[in-house]
Amino acid sequence: MEYRIGVISGDGIGPEIVREAKKVLDQVGKVYGHTFAYDEILMGGISIDKTGEPLTDGAIAQAKASDAVLMGSIGGNTSTSPWYKLPPELRPEAGLLKLRKSLGLFANLRPAYLYNELKEACPLRDEIIGDGFDMVIVRELTGGLYFGKRVTEERGGLKTAEDTLTYNEEEIRRVAKRGFDIAKKRRKKVTSVDKANVLDSSRLWRSVVEEVGKDYPDVTLEHMLVDNCAMQLVKDPRQFDVILTENMFGDILSDEASMVTGSIGMLSSASLNDTKFGLYEPSGGSAPDIAGKGIANPIATILSGAMMLRYSFDLDREADAVEEAVRQALREGIRTIDIMPQQEGGRESVVQVGTAEMGDLIVQRIQKYECVTESEG
Ligand code: IPM
Ligand code: MN
Repeated sequence: MEYRIGVISGDGIGPEIVREAKKVLDQVGKVYGHTFAYDEILMGGISIDKTGEPLTDGAIAQAKASDAVLMGSIGGNTSTSPWYKLPPELRPEAGLLKLRKSLGLFANLRPAYLYNELKEACPLRDEIIGDGFDMVIVRELTGGLYFGKRVTEERGGLKTAEDTLTYNEEEIRRVAKRGFDIAKKRRKKVTSVDKANVLDSSRLWRSVVEEVGKDYPDVTLEHMLVDNCAMQLVKDPRQFDVILTENMFGDILSDEASMVTGSIGMLSSASLNDTKFGLYEPSGGSAPDIAGKGIANPIATILSGAMMLRYSFDLDREADAVEEAVRQALREGIRTIDIMPQQEGGRESVVQVGTAEMGDLIVQRIQKYECVTESEG
């Protein structure tokens, strides 16, 4: 079958890491008999440079015409790049927010887990790591502070800025359902994160989540205040299965969660709406400081490609094949610089490779898994 994939290479390390993800998808296509047709879409700084806007209507139309979109990263150094001298609505990030909103991508899934092979890269102490952790943050992505009314004006002789945090019950309900559906297929626990001791929007959040939870009797629901959650993530990350939260809290907590795994370069993400369409991107940013050096870790983007195969195309075996190829490469000690062991002693059994080499080595490990039925011997 042919799948149309919109590709946003973007800025910084984006083009390098997306190149490797496409290589891996092409190999999957070869081995499993699919065709992936790519349509390059401009977004972010590169789009500003070429069109004067971070995301044109034409680019949105291209994304809508695709079965799914694979993205690298957008944006540059916020203190030195000329993009950040532009008005806010013309900066690279505005393109991403516009894309999320135009496509209705309200559910952002960010898995954060510790690879057994990468335990040495985890910054937490051994007794906290225990037998590892595995959580997914489900972040509301098209509401809240990100999309509320904002204004900067003079009030009573003082420069004043205002951002508005608004949620209606339906916006909360649909993402909550997504969170519970995911938990059902995992360890059946939802931790809903809010600031209900202060914010009205959080009190509504909590009551709607509570109501949705009644339809999922086999899933345990707990509520946690966001400040406590920030602490618990480093104190005892093993307690979490699904963390369900609003846009801004999810932005902050997902960076924290990915960092405690010690391998932000390994973590994929998916932004979904009510259809099969999704936008898939690594959790990390555009890393302008290392762009063009050929050292960025392409694994998060490659794994985002696997998420695309699974969620948008229902190609589970193919997704398994990609994930297994990544695990195999790690097991063999293949590492990019960001996931090298911290202690020198740990470096003997590993080999450091660059972006393209990592991609090639993963490509070589893509295998065809047949559906094997157990037979008695
Ligand atoms: C993210 C990013 C974006 C966000 C930025 C680039 C607008 O930090 O995807 O987490 O804040 O949502
Ligand atoms: Mn973020």
